[in-house]
Amino acid sequence: DKGTYPHYMLKEIDEQPAVMRKIIQAYQGEDEKLTIQPEILDALQAADRLYIIAAGTSYHAGLIGKEYLEKMAGIPVEVHVASEFGYNMPLLSEKPLFIFISQSGETADSRQVLVRIKELGHPSLTITNVAGSTLSREANHTLLLYAGPEIAVASTKAYTAQLAVLAILASVTAEARGRELGFDLVQEMGIVANAIQAQVDMKEEIEQLAHDFLSTTRNCFFIGRLMDFFVGLEGALKLKEISYIQAEGFAGGELKHGTIALIEEGTPVIALATQESVNLNIRGNVKEVAARGANTMIISMEGLNEDGDSHVLPTVHELLTPLVSVIPLQLISYYAALHRDCDVDKPRNLAKSVTVE
Ligand code: F6R
Repeated sequence: DKGTYPHYMLKEIDEQPAVMRKIIQAYQGEDEKLTIQPEILDALQAADRLYIIAAGTSYHAGLIGKEYLEKMAGIPVEVHVASEFGYNMPLLSEKPLFIFISQSGETADSRQVLVRIKELGHPSLTITNVAGSTLSREANHTLLLYAGPEIAVASTKAYTAQLAVLAILASVTAEARGRELGFDLVQEMGIVANAIQAQVDMKEEIEQLAHDFLSTTRNCFFIGRLMDFFVGLEGALKLKEISYIQAEGFAGGELKHGTIALIEEGTPVIALATQESVNLNIRGNVKEVAARGANTMIISMEGLNEDGDSHVLPTVHELLTPLVSVIPLQLISYYAALHRDCDVDKPRNLAKSVTVE
């Protein structure tokens, strides 16, 4: 039931602060420390490499999951698009653990990989929103997202829930391996939930951004470096699937290797600037596209912001920035689609769960 909301997508965007708190609670043990089932920890400890398999938005979450698992837990990770992995399996490590990320738990592309790797005798973990789903039943282990039903075709709260669960998995594994994180994830996630709330409370401002930058455009580019690049990929997918604006995400440094040729007078370029170590570089990219006529929107984080930035996010732990920076992108897509009279919750040609290969 969407209650007083005009669309499920908007409702689900708004639910994200509560989902973050729910996930933390769900993964807290009696002593309030984050915890996961010991057999899952054992599986991670036994693995020499993790293979994340997913599609679409869940794949984008996997790209950030790799950062978490490598930086926090110190385990090498590969992230693969499920449909491609099936045809072209890479050489596997000696002790792989497969992690399937899937909101629905029903995605056929991911399932065919699970069937293959089970035949090969490899262990698996599914991270899903749906208890009892196919990928959950068929994998050795499951971690749930606790995001509540996601009805809109465009995934929003499941994405941030995936990031939160991946961060929890990484931090609990780090601790088990005796690695010092240097921060308290429970506390930092509380700050994230508040920062998400602040974003969903700024709908009017964000709607105005969507109006100013996207009302008549045919295309739009997202640029970022490090994790901002991955969030840009997700922003682009969200925008294209519901507003039908052709949108692409690029690593800032790749622009000069081709894409910049597409920049014309008025081309919208949305730049994310939340990663301190590359802040100057991404701002350099913004200047390069602006000099060629691009209409640039900069979404930055407090502390890294400059005068004239279009939208400034509250500061959160650097690893957790994707959980916050994606929110204005979800809302921008929502309003861009709304302004174009698109069917926000049921975009053309798409199904919520993709059960064909
Ligand atoms: C985009 C979207 C899709 C799904 C993809 C995987 O908003 O919803 O890209 O993320 O079809 O679906 P799941 O996560 O159910 O495996």
